[in-house]
Amino acid sequence: MQHFGSKQELFSRAVQDSSVPEDAEPGELVERMLETLGVKLSGLPPASFGSALSPGDRLFLNSSLWPGFVPRYREVIDLARSADVAQVVKVSVRGAEPGALLGGGMHGEVEAHLKASGLAWSILQPVGFMQNLPAEVSFQDGEGRFHGSYGPGRVGYIDARDIADVAATLLTRPVGADETYVLTGPEAPTHDEIAAAVSAALGRTVRYVDLPVEELTGRLERQGLPGPAARDLAELMAQIGDGRWSTTTGTVEALTGRPPRSLTRFLTDHAAAFRL
Ligand SMILES: NC(=O)c1ccc[n+]([C@@H]2O[C@H](COP(=O)([O-])OP(=O)(O)OC[C@H]3O[C@@H](n4cnc5c(N)ncnc54)[C@H](OP(=O)(O)O)[C@@H]3O)[C@@H](O)[C@H]2O)c1
Repeated sequence: MQHFGSKQELFSRAVQDSSVPEDAEPGELVERMLETLGVKLSGLPPASFGSALSPGDRLFLNSSLWPGFVPRYREVIDLARSADVAQVVKVSVRGAEPGALLGGGMHGEVEAHLKASGLAWSILQPVGFMQNLPAEVSFQDGEGRFHGSYGPGRVGYIDARDIADVAATLLTRPVGADETYVLTGPEAPTHDEIAAAVSAALGRTVRYVDLPVEELTGRLERQGLPGPAARDLAELMAQIGDGRWSTTTGTVEALTGRPPRSLTRFLTDHAAAFRL
């Protein structure tokens, strides 16, 4: 995913919601951000990560996936428990469960560990991010295309900025009951409808090309994805195409007090991110 401000949103919320003055030194701001919202796991040996935690801290866990993801997250959760952390807010994925394809399976294992840890937890289960779109659409011969295996399945894509807002809300209000929050955007378009919305926003024709799983696997492999991951990704898209991500939830609005950003809003804000 590209960033488009999700981390910046968290950062500014952390500052807004804290007592740090706007003209504070950058070091002070960073310190407050780490205190309020967590620290980056990569590059930090577990011991130093553990020593960064204090009783009562609120911990935000979010990162990409990598082969060591599950053991590293387990380790961090155990360190948080030992440090008497007050709450863990973790970004996961809708439908996460052990054995699910790709991130769903990894997140499922981490979720199970977190729930059994004795820590207070909030799990955020977003569907696909709108922020993926600019990297997926490619322009050749004057026409834009993006590929998938979703068929006519609808997906309630979410703007990652709303995930950041939800996380910031949960991390800065009193710790509530343990809960899993399924996060979606306000509507669930088909991929043809997404293509039409992108075309309107960019003033250039963009088409969605639906491919059978085999064909999409080959295409993803040619783009550099290892074979098994390419197959799993194509299969995941076909699974999602059965409508399992087609329902939308009112969770973003219930937690933040305002509706989630629409696809049109995302496209207006980020039209410049598409490589025309
Ligand atoms: N993308 C989606 O559509 C989607 C949908 C549902 C759920 N999710 C879940 O949401 C999470 C974030 O997804 P994403 O697409 O934003 O991922 P991403 O772009 O691949 O990674 C997010 C950030 O994680 C940081 N990161 C990378 N390696 C790390 C490491 N070893 N330790 C700590 N941080 C590391 C990087 O920060 P820096 O840039 O600072 O290096 C990176 O920008 C993932 O767990 C994913 O499974 C994603």
